[in-house]
Amino acid sequence: MPSALAELNQWVDDVARHVRCDRVHWCDGSEDEARLLEARMLESGELLRLNPESHPGCVLHRSDPDDVARVEHLTFVCTREEADAGPNNHWMDPVAAHAKMDALFAGAMQGRTLYVVPYCMGPIDSPLARCGVELTDSPYVVANMRLMTRMGSAALARIEREGRFVRGLHSTGELDPERRFIMHFPEELTIKSYGSGYGGNALLGKKCHALRIASHQARQEGWLAEHMLIVGVENPRGQTHYIAAAFPSACGKTNLAMLIPPDGYARDGWKVWTVGDDICWMSPGEDGRLWAINPEAGYFGVAPGTSGRTNPNAMAMLQRDAIFTNVAVDADGRPWWEGLDGEPALDWQGRPIAEGRPAAHPNARFTVSARQCPTLSPQVEEPRGVPISAIVFGGRRPSLMPLVFEARDWAHGVLVGASMGSETTAAAAGDVGVMRRDPMAMKPFCGYHFGDYWAHWLSFDRPGAKLPRIFHVNWFRRDADGDFLWPGFGDNMRVLEWILRRVDGEVGVVETPIGGLPRVDDLDMHGLAMDASTLETLLAVDLDGWRREIDDIGEYLDGFAPRVPPRLEAERRRIREALDAA
Ligand code: GTP
Ligand code: MN
Ligand code: MN
Repeated sequence: MPSALAELNQWVDDVARHVRCDRVHWCDGSEDEARLLEARMLESGELLRLNPESHPGCVLHRSDPDDVARVEHLTFVCTREEADAGPNNHWMDPVAAHAKMDALFAGAMQGRTLYVVPYCMGPIDSPLARCGVELTDSPYVVANMRLMTRMGSAALARIEREGRFVRGLHSTGELDPERRFIMHFPEELTIKSYGSGYGGNALLGKKCHALRIASHQARQEGWLAEHMLIVGVENPRGQTHYIAAAFPSACGKTNLAMLIPPDGYARDGWKVWTVGDDICWMSPGEDGRLWAINPEAGYFGVAPGTSGRTNPNAMAMLQRDAIFTNVAVDADGRPWWEGLDGEPALDWQGRPIAEGRPAAHPNARFTVSARQCPTLSPQVEEPRGVPISAIVFGGRRPSLMPLVFEARDWAHGVLVGASMGSETTAAAAGDVGVMRRDPMAMKPFCGYHFGDYWAHWLSFDRPGAKLPRIFHVNWFRRDADGDFLWPGFGDNMRVLEWILRRVDGEVGVVETPIGGLPRVDDLDMHGLAMDASTLETLLAVDLDGWRREIDDIGEYLDGFAPRVPPRLEAERRRIREALDAA
């Protein structure tokens, strides 16, 4: 059997010949290499230097205006059997998909350099980590991969030892939306992405590998690859519990992962530690608990709305060595977006500011190394990961969904996750503000049939398992004027505290048909000016609304028949009956 390196070399040779690149550059991940690539991109105009005094080492990239978000309608899962991809994915026959992509890639890199990017998703010595190699003609992608993954020589050494890696081939192509496809071949551990330079479409280690391919792999190997943040919450006694939370894109993961507790909490000695802000790989440990790693090494976060008020941690880490994509700039050449003070001078396309259109693109992003996060957990490089005490699901629900409730057991929690709903956001191309179901926040990212996915989730409930408790939160309830009822951000700490007190068995719940809600007195509202009726609204269960919701969930689940696990439907019926009896 040929060694992994021989296989890798062969693949690189074959691709180089097919795409007819001028040069092949093997990335070692070194500082020198990063400086060299940056200089080339500043020269070509692909990157612009931001104010070096206020933002040393920071650069701006302006995308093609047609290429600013993930493109779900052009993203395919190419399994041999169509049914295995599920109604939750677009499917193409793998033979046809390869033919289509190979035709697009033929001669696509003439005059360009092909970069070979070996990377490791997860701590380099972790048994939970997995490696891949991305071949790309975009130095911007290389620069981002360097911040987002453990990229370079160490990853290559692990690939040589381990023998297995995910193959990703990417070209920005001619950026024609008609000639843009992101194809996944989970059975071959292969990704082919053409025609987009946008993060989620082009940084193949992230959504393509760490979620779509990894979720498929995880099912076969008995672990979970999830669209979740991981946060450590340290109580005044010095004990740290870890929480994993799944919210759809642009619904608050990065913010919660970097939460700064309100005044009183910090005084009492509460601390929040950031492990990950987007992706979580979890595996049952010998002790029966779920142990989690963050496969990423950096953050690719939403810029608009990020400010000293909402996320001071993110602001602190964005002062140096960050890549900004599609933000505006002020007159001093500093990055600017909606939510910051000051005035923009040029919008995200480099045009003068005009009334009525945002200066930064709503999905403008920053890329920054996790090492710059002031609250980075000391456990991030721990090879075995961190033990998860609670799993939290949530989304943007302007009505109905209470601030927080607890599922009564694992199966109920899986139903709560499977029936998650949220308003769509600017993170993906398409309408914004439309309510859609987004199970476990994985609608765009699950690399196989949702019915099989839910069955896989249920399978973790087995003898000896010490599973996390499951909760659902909603920071996005609105009043009749459309204003948020809950202050959110740092104040979400109050909800996290309640969740951890439940985990530690310190407080009871109000039992309702939909699950356990906090007793009003158990939520610490100290220092928060909120009238009693608002809190009451946030913690109310609207029985009629919930009957409609549960019926709607039934219709949604029917769309995945016959692969919906019977346990899930039984759980749904139990809740419907409890609602009828209430
Ligand atoms: P992806 O990185 O795309 O997966 O998204 P994300 O889940 O990390 O979202 P992020 O934390 O970047 O939040 C996106 C938007 O939600 C920003 O506009 C935030 O200001 C807003 N947001 C985050 N947390 C809260 C909150 O607690 N309350 C309110 N009202 N808005 C919030
Ligand atoms: Mn995400
Ligand atoms: Mn994020």
